Amino acid sequence: MTVLVLGGAGYIGSHTVDRLIEKGFDVAVIDNLVTGHRAAVNDHARFYYGDVRDTNFLEQVFTTEKIDSVVHFAAFSVVPESMRAPLKYFDNNTAGMINLLEVMERHNVKQIVFSSTAATYGEPKQIPIKETDPQVPTNPYGESKLAMEKIMHWADLAYGIKFVALRYFNVAGAKADGTIGEDHHPETHLVPIILQVAAGERDELKIFGSDYPTKDGTNVRDYVHVVDLADAHILALAYLAKGGASDAFNLGSATGFSNQEILEAARKVTGQPIPATKAPRRPGDPATLIAASDKARATLGWQPQYDNIQEIIRTAWNWKQSHPHGYGEAK
Ligand code: UFG
Repeated sequence: MTVLVLGGAGYIGSHTVDRLIEKGFDVAVIDNLVTGHRAAVNDHARFYYGDVRDTNFLEQVFTTEKIDSVVHFAAFSVVPESMRAPLKYFDNNTAGMINLLEVMERHNVKQIVFSSTAATYGEPKQIPIKETDPQVPTNPYGESKLAMEKIMHWADLAYGIKFVALRYFNVAGAKADGTIGEDHHPETHLVPIILQVAAGERDELKIFGSDYPTKDGTNVRDYVHVVDLADAHILALAYLAKGGASDAFNLGSATGFSNQEILEAARKVTGQPIPATKAPRRPGDPATLIAASDKARATLGWQPQYDNIQEIIRTAWNWKQSHPHGYGEAK
């Protein structure tokens, strides 16, 4: 089975490509390397450098390859940036999806697994968040991904293109052997920023908000290991291959950790003091985001292997120590 992975050089995409190869899939990767890294892509995958919005380029890839299924990660995903530059997000993310579905339809490719997000829910009305809860995004990033989900729904009705939308909560960690990991420029995510402080690259962590209605006043988030997340995509491909109906699934752990708890776990893992100060709230941060993910477990058979936050952080620290400058300068 040949799987085309768009955005396969990014953080989650590269871990998914790696797991697909380990499990014996034939894999082709498309990435424009705007945020991805060529070195992150497993050598056994065929790599095509190009953009999801480039119709001629996609046509060439779909003509060269005999693609059975698509996994789509190629999107911008930084919430504050999306507030400043919404059209950039609707162009790359939403218009990119339209282009991709058109090319899939022309080439009779009928299955797509899509990287969606908890940001499609917006401010939750209840915790844990269920797939059937209202989707009311509070930023253009979430809106662009919700539009992509809706476009896939109508493309299914019209053309029979079946989709699985996987709504991620917070993703962290790296492959256990430390050969691939997270490398964003600029980095905005909590765990890698904490580890930059632990490594002496930043002076301190700024904790955005300490007056939320949570156990210690800091935001609570639901963390999943990136390899467990990658495996959910492979299960979703199997689900579609068996004739599964189009559907959406939350991917989380059903457990929430506050930012303060993540900091303390990282201090234990690294043995470093990791100085931190209180800073104002970051606009748009919901107090608590925890997923109900029993549907992914029941329907896809998803069983995350990492259930310990320190173990998740340890894999990220392992990657950080062996690649202090990310893919730019591996030791
Ligand atoms: N945080 C800090 N200091 C920092 C960085 C982050 O206190 O320097 C806090 C944030 O305010 C938040 C928590 O750490 O409370 C987690 O922040 P991240 O940026 O790591 O992750 P988010 O929960 O904001 O975002 C994640 C994904 C988004 C997605 C969102 C959906 O990264 O792509 O979940 O809820 F949209």
